[in-house]
Amino acid sequence: MSTNTPSVAPLGSTPRPTRILVIFGTRPEAIKLFPVVAALKADPRFEARVCVSAQHRGMLDQVLEIAGITPDHDLDLMRPDQSLDSLTAALITGLGKVMDIEKPDRVMVQGDTATAMAGALAAYYRKIPVDHVEAGLRSGNIYHPWPEEVNRKMIGAIASLHFAPTTTSQAALLRENVDPARVHVTGNTVIDALHWVGDRIKANPALASGLADLEARFAGKRIIGVTSHRRENFGDGMENIAQAIRTIAQRPDVAIIFPVHLNPNVRAVMNERLAGLDNVALIEPLDYPHFAHLLSLAEIMLTDSGGVQEEAPALGKPVLVMRETTERPEGVEAGTAKLVGTDSARIVSEIFSLLDDKAAYEAMARAHNPFGDGHSSRRIVEILCEEMGQA
Ligand code: UD1
Ligand code: UDP
Repeated sequence: MSTNTPSVAPLGSTPRPTRILVIFGTRPEAIKLFPVVAALKADPRFEARVCVSAQHRGMLDQVLEIAGITPDHDLDLMRPDQSLDSLTAALITGLGKVMDIEKPDRVMVQGDTATAMAGALAAYYRKIPVDHVEAGLRSGNIYHPWPEEVNRKMIGAIASLHFAPTTTSQAALLRENVDPARVHVTGNTVIDALHWVGDRIKANPALASGLADLEARFAGKRIIGVTSHRRENFGDGMENIAQAIRTIAQRPDVAIIFPVHLNPNVRAVMNERLAGLDNVALIEPLDYPHFAHLLSLAEIMLTDSGGVQEEAPALGKPVLVMRETTERPEGVEAGTAKLVGTDSARIVSEIFSLLDDKAAYEAMARAHNPFGDGHSSRRIVEILCEEMGQA
């Protein structure tokens, strides 16, 4: 495990700011790292540099714009329907070159994407300490989620500092014999992002007013928000999810708002199965303020997303998770999230039970925040300062 020894500065000199290269490439990483980038940039003890792989292009740019981040490096690596091996190879080479130019003191990655794993590996090849935000999530099954479970374990083997969102993720790292002094429970920075965007919308409601037409079209109906994109659900899983939505949409009291992920493996199925249904709105991916607004409109969220499992409980929205297992058990344990898999009949019966059984709904619809208090980024920056001897 790598550690970093603070350098000794001559008496009276001001320590050089720590140069930290923050790397991300997809929508969820951008959402969870923009609050950390803002906290680092506001602190003179750091020189934060940002490199995006653009593993996602359109959905990443939506976040960069709203967060006001202009990356110092943009590798523009997205290719249509990209394979994991070609993406990973391009990431390691591209991110390594950026590290050779920037010569950072530390590298920061978030979560479990190909970008995060390749960033950690390229840093390790250069013996640069790696800080892992959202460390220690484990499902215990290397194919659910795939390939994220292994990406996280690889980053965990490399990381110098592990920022675990909860005590559950901390415990998972300790079970893997990670030095307890290197693991810090910080909460999840997604809650920082959610608070930030909520404040922005309060100050300027126009930021999230783009759903007004849909709200008018579906006035009086009970809104179900849907997202789906997991690789392990491609094929039969996506077909089953679409079939479940068709059945749910037969109820006249319900409307479904489904911002469809740009992955062609998702869009092809959803367009073919769901386009043109009266009470189903298939829409383009929403920017973060509009998605936060959808979370507030929805009575129930139906999703296979990781981030939505964290956001919905924070807002008191029941979330039905279309996966067999989850690396985020906190919501399930608190009773605000439920694993329903991808069997059509099961999804339909779980949704109907929440719609028709008030007690069942109310048991799940409790605002509960196992993932943090919205101050995770500040904690991460303070821990980094201690690490660098600059506290
Ligand atoms: C990736 C992450 C996954 C994360 C998800 C968040 C990996 C292996 N997977 O999955 O962990 O949960 O992002 O959404 O890192 N596309 C676009 N425009 C975009 C984004 C994607 O057109 O803005 C299309 C492209 O055809 C691209 C494809 O989607 O090739 C797949 O993108 P990719 O990043 O490989 O995987 P995701 O399934 O999005
Ligand atoms: N999200 C968004 N617009 C959308 C759908 C989702 O901004 O149309 C946000 C959502 O609030 C969450 C994140 O994207 O913070 C989740 O991303 P995704 O589901 O793509 O990835 P995962 O979290 O599963 O890795």
